[in-house]
Amino acid sequence: MRETEVVDSPGGVMLEPEPGFVETLNIKRLTERALSYLKAGYPVHFSGPAGVGKTTLAMHLARTLGRPACFMVGDDEFGSSDLVGGQCGYRRKKVVDRFIHSVLKMEDDVTSRWVDARLTEACKNGLTLIYDEFNRSRPEANNVLLSVLEEGVMTMPPASGEAKEAYLEVHPSFRAIFTSNPEEYAGVHKTQDALRDRLVTIELFHYDEETEIAITMSRTKLTRPEAAKIVKLVRAIRQKGPSKASPTIRACIIIGKVAKLRKARIDRRDERFREICGDVLASTNHAGRNGSGLKQKLGQSRQLVERLLRRHC
Ligand SMILES: Nc1ncnc2c1ncn2[C@@H]1O[C@H](COP(=O)(O)OP(=O)(O)OP(=O)(O)O)[C@@H](O)[C@H]1O
Ligand SMILES: [Mg+2]
Repeated sequence: MRETEVVDSPGGVMLEPEPGFVETLNIKRLTERALSYLKAGYPVHFSGPAGVGKTTLAMHLARTLGRPACFMVGDDEFGSSDLVGGQCGYRRKKVVDRFIHSVLKMEDDVTSRWVDARLTEACKNGLTLIYDEFNRSRPEANNVLLSVLEEGVMTMPPASGEAKEAYLEVHPSFRAIFTSNPEEYAGVHKTQDALRDRLVTIELFHYDEETEIAITMSRTKLTRPEAAKIVKLVRAIRQKGPSKASPTIRACIIIGKVAKLRKARIDRRDERFREICGDVLASTNHAGRNGSGLKQKLGQSRQLVERLLRRHC
C-alpha cells in the first residue's frame, strides 16, 4: 500500500532572537507587564498609532514566552475558515494489490480533506498566536475567537457528511497576542465590544527619546551623537506638525540609513542630509492632499524642517 499525503505540521516555530532588537528599561518594563497577563492566561493587545513598535514588541513578547509561535495578519478578505480551516485540500489514497502475481488490482480514492488554519493549529498545539493588525479582519471573521478566549473551546464546522459542529478544547499553553491601530482611517474595522472586553489592552505611544536614540543607533549603526540629532529633529517635527501624519521612529531609521548610504554627514550644512530630511519629513508632515494648496503646504513643511534642522542638527 502506498499513500500520498501531506503530513500536517504543528505549524509553530521557535522564534530566534531578533538581531538589533533594543531593550531599554522602558521596553523591559512593558514586556514584563504584558508577560504577567499572558502567564495568567489573558490575551494581550498592543494598541497604538503607526510605527510605535507594536509588531516588534509582540514578536519580542512571544519570544520571551519561550513557546513555539505562529503569526497571522488581519485581512479584510478573511472569513472564519481562514482562522479555523476548511475542506480545502485533497487526500489521495492509492492501493496496489499484487496478491496474485498475475493480477494487478488498483483502487484510487480522492477525498477532500480538512486543513487546519493558524488559529486551530495554535489552539491544538498550544502555540503563541501573534495576530497582527487583527482589526483589518471583519468582526464576523474574528467571532470564533470569543469562545476560544473565554471558554477555552473552539467551534469547528461540521465535518463533511456530518450534521453537527465539533468542538476543540484549547490547549492550556495556548496564548494570544494582538496588535491594532485604532487611529488608522483606511482598511480597518471597529472591534466588537465582546472581543475587546476579553483582551488586556496596553496602549502604546511613541517611545521616550532615549529609546528612540537606541533604536536608531541599532538599526542604522550611526554613532550616538548622530542618532541623537536625527531623533531630536523628528521629535520636534512630531510636536509642531499636524498630529495625523507625524513622523515615527521609521523616519529616524530611514534618514539614518540613507544618509549613511549617501555618505552624508548628519549635519545641516551637508546638502545631501538636508535633502533627505526634507524628502522624508516634509512629505509625511504636510496637512492635506487636495488640489492647489498642496504645493504651498509642502513649501511650508519644508520651511519647518529647515528651521528645526538649524536648531537640532
Ligand atoms: N525595540 C525595538 N528594537 C529595535 N527596533 C525597533 C524596536 N521597536 C521598533 N523598532 C523598529 O521601529 C520600526 C517600527 O516598528 P513596528 O513595525 O513594530 O511598528 P508598528 O507599531 O507595528 O507599526 P505599524 O502600525 O505601521 O505596523 C521598525 O523598523 C522596527 O524594526
Ligand atoms: Mg505593525
